[in-house]
Amino acid sequence: MLPMIVPNPSLASLTESASDALERFSGCTPTWFAAAPGRVNLIGEHTDYNAGWALPIAIDRYTVLAAAPSGETGQLRVHSLALEEERVLSWEALDTPHPTAWMRYLQGVIVQYRRKGIECPALDIVVASSVPLGAGLSSSAALELAMAHLLESVTGQSLSSAARIEASIEAERQTAGVPCGVMDQTVVESAHPEHALLLDCADNTFIPVPFHQADVALLVIHSGISHSLAQSAYAQRRDECERGARALGVSTLREVCLSDLPALDDELLRRRAHHVVSENARVQRSVAALQRGDWDTLGTLMVDSHTSLRDDYAVSCDELDVLVELAVVEAGVYGARLTGGGFGGCVIVLIDTERLEAVAESIGRQYAERVGWAPLCYRIQSAAGANELCAAL
Ligand code: GLA
Repeated sequence: MLPMIVPNPSLASLTESASDALERFSGCTPTWFAAAPGRVNLIGEHTDYNAGWALPIAIDRYTVLAAAPSGETGQLRVHSLALEEERVLSWEALDTPHPTAWMRYLQGVIVQYRRKGIECPALDIVVASSVPLGAGLSSSAALELAMAHLLESVTGQSLSSAARIEASIEAERQTAGVPCGVMDQTVVESAHPEHALLLDCADNTFIPVPFHQADVALLVIHSGISHSLAQSAYAQRRDECERGARALGVSTLREVCLSDLPALDDELLRRRAHHVVSENARVQRSVAALQRGDWDTLGTLMVDSHTSLRDDYAVSCDELDVLVELAVVEAGVYGARLTGGGFGGCVIVLIDTERLEAVAESIGRQYAERVGWAPLCYRIQSAAGANELCAAL
């Protein structure tokens, strides 16, 4: 059998790698550490910016920052282990987005904290991460929240969790230029292990919903198509939803029922709204299914979600459709769907734990035959958010 499932380094070993690397690059042992997880969304896609509902979990894939005071003044020197790149951000250039895209997430957080009167001193930082990059698993939110916690440790000035989430969202919107919703940063900061988070994106509140993964496992499969929200149709979908809401005379699609939709003359806007309204209902039914341990129903809702994202919302792609198609016919699979923004990235598969490896192998082999390359498979467990994680560091 091919080794289909990507090994998962522990948080402790990532921290050690970051620490060793900082010593190599700057000759200092780290004074501060911070960490944040990635996330996967069980269901409730493209609902967050419509004031709707979502049901994500934080995952046991982490971004760790190790930092020490820098000899240089007025700058951040950052080394990414995953990308094998070193970049410098100088305070004089703080108002212009950094030429390297991943640096903008750190820069954005520094800018937001500076507006609150919290100044970042000169630092050397190493980033070690097991969150797959560009896969729709929120590597960017993990980097933002880890940076927010790091800044607070360094300066000894703390924000509330809600303010930290807000600063990270604004970093992504204003400096990275991605018009994201609130889901990623909220769950990356606030999740609990063994729980999903039911987010009410109308007021950004959440309720932890127990999710015990004894009998079922989550398999995340990367299509190999790298998604890019900034360059994709994400902003266009947001705009279509806003136009749909305006045409229906409401401020968000949250306020709409399926029976209101025939009043929308524009076919395209009607389909977009249909996805959002039906997805919100699926989230509510998924919570009830999760509470009953009713995996069949949860799996069916996941497949319905994928169909809606593919047909009504048009954010899937052939490779994601192939993965879902291959997954749902496997014995032991309850359901599968694209997860995250779409246009590439990953699918999430809900599966009998015992069948995990056999299914990963089978889907991997067939996908490689159909598409021409082998997908990467990740076994995912729910994890603590950055708030809980950093308190324990
Ligand atoms: C991206 C965005 C989120 C959300 C999802 C789609 O991950 O960052 O805010 O809109 O897409 O559900």
